[in-house]
Amino acid sequence: MAKISLKPNNDYCPQTLFLYGTYDESGNPDFGLFCWFSYIWDDEMGVMCCIGGSKLTRSNIERSKVFSANLVTEKMLPYADYFGCVSGDNPDKMKIALKIGKGEVLNVPILDEAPVIFELEAVEFIPRGDGEVILCKIRNVLQDESLSSDETVAQKLARIAPVRTTAKTYLGYDGRDMGAWGEPMKKLK
Ligand SMILES: Cc1cc2nc3c(=O)[nH]c(=O)nc-3n(C[C@H](O)[C@H](O)[C@H](O)COP(=O)(O)O)c2cc1C
Repeated sequence: MAKISLKPNNDYCPQTLFLYGTYDESGNPDFGLFCWFSYIWDDEMGVMCCIGGSKLTRSNIERSKVFSANLVTEKMLPYADYFGCVSGDNPDKMKIALKIGKGEVLNVPILDEAPVIFELEAVEFIPRGDGEVILCKIRNVLQDESLSSDETVAQKLARIAPVRTTAKTYLGYDGRDMGAWGEPMKKLK
């Protein structure tokens, strides 16, 4: 197949989406949407993620060293998109009706609706230009009880329907177009 050469981009390489939950200096929860998230091996499975530029999520993690990563599903997409498009510097960002709980092991805010939640402790910060790679220990994984059922993995994934993203577009679990970044949040009342 003929190829074309392009500047750095990751179009057509779908990524899983997570909402990172942190507490600010006053103990108020904040959620931001992130897709530069993957896994590392370090005697056990760990997580690596990259945060670019200055963000409330980033300063909260740098201060507290802990956060939650909540898997985003199709049902969660309108508010997940909102959390990705509205900065934590906006004092009204978290004025949204959502069931926010607490981690089991770490002092992190979690989203009750997420079927899979990582409780993460940041153990290494690697600054790169105005961004930062953060290496984390997984201190706990919270999973909906229903994911322990006898269904196949494919059936469970189809049921919880995690969203993926590439090329500034959201894709449903079956690959259908769920809108450009900034569109799903328009469904919020
Ligand atoms: C689909 C999507 C994915 C995103 N992924 C990342 C990411 O991996 N890293 C990053 O630094 N910012 C990412 N962002 C931007 C943050 O979500 C955005 O800056 C958000 O306002 C941060 O919230 P905060 O200011 O409350 O921390 C993403 C935004 C969207 C819409």
